Amino acid sequence: MDAKQLKIEAARVALEHVEDGMRLGIGTGSTAEEFVRLLAVKVADGLSIIGVPTSERTAALCTELGVPLSTLEETPELDLTIDGADEIDPQLGLIKGGGGALLREKIVAAASEKMLVIADASKLVDTLGKFPLPIEVNEFGLGATKIAIAKVAADLGLEGPLEIRMTNGKPFVTDGGHLIIDASFGRIPDTRALSDALHAIPGVVEHGLFLGLADAAVVAEAGHGVRTVR
Ligand code: 5RP
Repeated sequence: MDAKQLKIEAARVALEHVEDGMRLGIGTGSTAEEFVRLLAVKVADGLSIIGVPTSERTAALCTELGVPLSTLEETPELDLTIDGADEIDPQLGLIKGGGGALLREKIVAAASEKMLVIADASKLVDTLGKFPLPIEVNEFGLGATKIAIAKVAADLGLEGPLEIRMTNGKPFVTDGGHLIIDASFGRIPDTRALSDALHAIPGVVEHGLFLGLADAAVVAEAGHGVRTVR
């Protein structure tokens, strides 16, 4: 089974958790897109849900495929969010933001009663951090913010390159109009301490550590089928 098929399998099992009438947070990324495609088929068959997308990209796909959408302003409380992840640890701590949507993804997940992660088994790790941590920052004061990030990281014994994410030779700009710093710290033993320290930096808008937000992960692995990790 190739990587795309694994994503589809995880999305298919996650879809079983979607019930008629649900207010649904809809994630961003290639795995979440497979979920949207399957969801759209169910909607065409009569499933009634209202979706709140976590990015303009997801909104466009939902609109194209006929998945009804709302906003978090109109629908501020959600039943379930289904989203992908870049890394998943045994406590269901996540790194997210590889697709650049971490701020809206976190706001939507936090507004949801439950968050279900969909992934292939390559995303499972013992300790978060091999995947560079995306940190969404305000463009103003970028140099000072980088120094502050390096300092709080060093206080926790972490170091590594802090790179502004680029796309087509230009800085990547998020849906919220911010930049992303990808921080290659390597293993992050104390994710909570790093999360709190990053939140205390004024130029940091949000970061990609999702701690205590996911309730379960639906994980597809070649040769082993799909399992739900809680
Ligand atoms: C986007 C995300 C994605 O969920 C994450 O990057 C995983 O993406 P994919 O399913 O393409 O591997 O956090 O901001």
